[in-house]
Order: sequence, then structure tokens, then C-alpha cells
Amino acid sequence: MTDLDPTMALEARVLDDADPLRGRRDAFIGAESPLVYFDGNSLGRPLRATAERLERFVREEWAGRLIRGWDESWMQLPFEIGDTVGRVAIGARAGQTVIGDSTTVLLYKLVRAAFDARRADDAARVEIVVDRDNFPTDRYLIEGIAAERGGRVRWIEVDRASGVTEDALRDAVGPQTAVVVLSHVAYRSGYLADAASLTAIAHDAGALILWDLCHSAGSVPVEADAWGFDLAVGCTYKYLNGGPGSPAFAYVAHRHQASLTQPIQGWMGSADVFAMGPHYVPADGMRRFISGTPPITGMLGIQDTLALIDEVGIHAIREKSIALTEFAIAVADRDLAPLGVTIASPRHAERRGGHVTLAHPLMREATARLWEQDVIPDYRDPHGLRIGLSPLSTSFAETEAGLIRVGEVLRGLGADGP
Ligand SMILES: Cc1ncc(COP(=O)(O)O)c(C=O)c1O
Repeated sequence: MTDLDPTMALEARVLDDADPLRGRRDAFIGAESPLVYFDGNSLGRPLRATAERLERFVREEWAGRLIRGWDESWMQLPFEIGDTVGRVAIGARAGQTVIGDSTTVLLYKLVRAAFDARRADDAARVEIVVDRDNFPTDRYLIEGIAAERGGRVRWIEVDRASGVTEDALRDAVGPQTAVVVLSHVAYRSGYLADAASLTAIAHDAGALILWDLCHSAGSVPVEADAWGFDLAVGCTYKYLNGGPGSPAFAYVAHRHQASLTQPIQGWMGSADVFAMGPHYVPADGMRRFISGTPPITGMLGIQDTLALIDEVGIHAIREKSIALTEFAIAVADRDLAPLGVTIASPRHAERRGGHVTLAHPLMREATARLWEQDVIPDYRDPHGLRIGLSPLSTSFAETEAGLIRVGEVLRGLGADGP
């Protein structure tokens, strides 16, 4: 870090000293190392409490209780943790959130259930609306559902450095729309959609809306009930630090639960799980959105981050998140813009989630070199270096050190101007 600007470094230190969440970093394993982690929006760091919890679980619950564990507590865990996700992270009253399968599988179940229900009410509603820059899994499975159910996809064209606006959604929905699927925070640009007003636009058109909360849960305040969401899904391995492949959550508003039938009708979602009856009868409430045996081991870690969020509050997390992304943009403008780097994320904090994407034609090569040097961002086409800033585990000094290294690597690759 030869070219570190003493003014900015001082500011990083000042910001860290003034940060009310600074002590929370120590709760994460590895945060004390010099490695720069810019990917907490992809896979969050583990909490020390989680290492202890998993160890304890194996010894005491799994080994100690064996199959009795299901009756004693595990059967309820998807609902208990789901309710906590609802209360702490997404503004949902109890009984509407469950931990289930992967985000992809939950998206499939809920989009298909919503499409079928809306079309059963009104045969003209054959379209699923989604934007061209939504996360690939969302787009792929919507194409699949449309093909499978004789529906159509209505694509919203979007600027890749921002996201879906109110006008764009208004143009796309109408009497033909069954379901709208949008991401609250865009995975590429970090654009933060105005979920309340977009939900109202979908509803005015008579459609249901499903929100992908993968990049918001645990980072950006969400008010699923107050904003009138119908459905939502989200990852737990990003800002909720559940660990690689930890299962996702699904939210279904109370008013829709009884009328939605999801397509993977397994025994765990049936009304009487151990009756082993001749035919599937869906359970009441959120249990009907479960299919098979819940992935208990995978969902344990989420609880530690939820406890932490509960303690510090999502609004304090959002404040730090905004400060981190503002700082990252300031450092990028100062140090990286002269090398030709542009900001491929919204510049207004109120329209930006927890990550910032920096664009340059050499970013793919730069990412590989940065990883070799223990600076870990990720790369998203075209030319995007995604800087994920997990508010509880990232410091301002870490952010600055990593961005300065990005500049050094780009210069080493021959970048010398716009
Ligand atoms: C916005 C978004 N939606 C959906 C997914 C898919 O999640 P999964 O691979 O766990 O099914 C991801 C994964 O990163 C994501 O970022």
C-alpha cells in the first residue's frame, strides 16, 4: 500500500473509531486477519457463536438425542427460525415465514403456486413479469414455469447499472399479469428497489408480487407486512451468515396461505405427516410450503446472526452499510477513476443496497490476481468487480486497503486511464 493517501487513511480510522458497530467485528472468525473480504453478500463470514453452536449440536442434540430430536425440537425449528427471520429481518408477523429448501426451489414453488392461483381466478392472467437483469435462477425458472403451464414471460428491460423503476413496471403489468417477480436489491448493481410502491403498482394491476430478498435480508430494512408483499424468498448464507448452502426462507402473507398450492407435494407438507395417508392433503399455514425433511443442520447458524441483528437493530446495520458504500465510492472516485474505473451502482444511497460494483475492462483478470493476494471481491459480467460490504464484519480500514489493492492490481495489468 505504497500510495495510501494519508488523509483518506485517517478518515478510515476516524470512521472506524466512530462506528458504533465496530466491536461486532470481533464476533466473526477471521475478521482479525489481514485478508480483505468483499464477498459477505455472497457468503457471509462465520460467527464464533456458530462454531460453538454446531459443535454443541453434533455432540449434545444429534449424538445425544438421536431421532428423538425431531419430536423434541427439530420439527418446529423451520417455523421458529422462520418467525425470527420475519420479526428481525423482513418485517413479517409470526406464522408467515419458514425456512425451507434452496432459494431456487422455494422460488419455483411460490411462483408456480401464485401463477396457478391467479390464473384459476382469471384465465386472461397468463404472464409472469420479470426484469432482464434479475438473478439468473429467477429468470430461468420463470421461463420454465411459463413453458410448463402454458404462460408467457413479460420482460422488463433495465439499465444494468440500476434496476426496475416504477414507470418500467407500470408499462409491463396489466390485465394479463398473473405474477411479478422482482429483486429488492439487484445482485449486479446493488440497486435498491422501492418495494412499497412497486408492490402497489403490481396490486393495482390485479397481480401478485414475489420479492427476492437475497441481497436485502440482514442488510437493508424490509417491511413485508407493511409494504403489502404477497410472497418473498431470500438466501440465508449472505448477510445472515448461515454458511455455505444454508437453506432459504419463504414468506407467504397470511391472506394467501390457504389458497396457494405448491407443486412439490411431499409428506412433510401434508396435514398429518405421520399418518402416511393414501393422498396428499396440504397442511394449514406455512407447513404446506415444506416438501421433505427440513435441513436442520444447515439452518442452525442463522440463529446467531439473527440474535446479533435483534440486539443491534437493522436500522443501525443499514446506517453502517450506507456509510461503507459511500466511503467505497469516495475511495474509488479518488483512486480508481483515474485508471478508468466507473461506478456501476446507484450513486444515491437511498437507491443502493449493501454492495457497489466497479466496472473496468480488466476486472476479470484483476479479480484472479486479487484473490491470490487475499483480497476477495467477486466478478460479474460485464467487467464488474462487486464489492460486498457486510456491515457487521467489515471495517472502513479493510475497505480502503482492499480498494487500494484493486488500483495496484489494475495498474499492474496496464490500466492507465479512462
Ligand atoms: C438474488 C438471488 N436470487 C437467487 C439466488 C439463488 O440462490 P440459491 O442458489 O441458494 O438457490 C441467489 C444466489 O446467490 C441470488 O443472489
